[in-house]
Amino acid sequence: MKVNGQHTRTIWVEADGVTVGTIDQTVLPHRYATITLGDLADAAHAIKSMQVRGAPLIGATAAYGVALALRQDASDAALERAYATLIVTRPTAINLKWALDEMTAAVRNRAREERVAVAYRRAREIADQDVEINAAIGRHGLQLIEAIAAKKGGEPVNVLTHCNAGWLATVDWGTATAPIYHAYDKGVPIHVWVDETRPRNQGASLTAWELGQHGVEHTVIPDNTGGHLMQHAQVDIAIVGTDRVTAQGDVCNKIGTYLKALAAKDNGVPFYVALPSPTIDFTVNDGVKEIPIEQRGAEEVTTMTGKTADGRIESVRIVPDGSNVANYGFDVTPARLVTGLITERGVLAASREGLAKAFPERAA
Ligand code: MRU
Repeated sequence: MKVNGQHTRTIWVEADGVTVGTIDQTVLPHRYATITLGDLADAAHAIKSMQVRGAPLIGATAAYGVALALRQDASDAALERAYATLIVTRPTAINLKWALDEMTAAVRNRAREERVAVAYRRAREIADQDVEINAAIGRHGLQLIEAIAAKKGGEPVNVLTHCNAGWLATVDWGTATAPIYHAYDKGVPIHVWVDETRPRNQGASLTAWELGQHGVEHTVIPDNTGGHLMQHAQVDIAIVGTDRVTAQGDVCNKIGTYLKALAAKDNGVPFYVALPSPTIDFTVNDGVKEIPIEQRGAEEVTTMTGKTADGRIESVRIVPDGSNVANYGFDVTPARLVTGLITERGVLAASREGLAKAFPERAA
């Protein structure tokens, strides 16, 4: 997608053929900066500190992290160490485990002297595959948006989204945003309600920034606004991303997604979830009971960071000293609240049957 008009991906191998470049998402939207990952520790730090975030990009970064680790030491012990270091960086997004398993399977039975080349190749494939998958999600989701547009007589289709499930969260296109970008590029009138997504503000800082870079009309709203907009027919469709989908179609995503799904159900607004197949965890059924929910630091809730009137970036405390704070990163939306799952293989029912039929090789 575009940064200052230039096509870019979120992760790449630098010109030296070894180190890995990515965008430091912690300084967006006020500054665009890239960082270079030189070893396993850099990759783990980038994921843990949320310089990179979003399930698919976390997976791709972990894949390159394994390649960087093997460059320093291609032994079995080093491979295990890389896996153990990366797997604990973020607990909820299943793409992380998927990518680490893929990397392990690719290199495990290779001779040590082959492992580095094989690892870089597999990491590159994982990144390229993510781009292809998201483009396909975009094509399938476009049909949903076009069907709504056909009934609106030229009025923009209003899409509500939560968190950042845009190209910054993937390698390119995004998941929830892929249908939006496809619609915009095709000239379908479209407008996006962007949930700010407290406490990390991925919507206000990242989704708004990337939609703006692409020229898509959008409005940032406080998280609690969606229900009101739905009651007044101002939302035609909700599309969100996900960090893990269970075998029965429950959807884990950024905290607050569940409340949007409830409001959508109450107001008859279609609620879709866009996901690449590596986000499906067929080993888990009941998302509420079984998915580990990451709890993050209190400072994400107690402080806010932003640009002052004179252009400085500052953090300020917004909670009284001494108040207790809870910071659950994700919640689970039960399948019954999900209108459909937009995948690279089409739009599916959020059910065991829907998922197993579309991905029989994974379900088995
Ligand atoms: O905590 P984050 O910023 O990594 O959470 C990201 C989300 O919840 C996204 O909506 C999700 O990963 C889908 S990404 C295409």
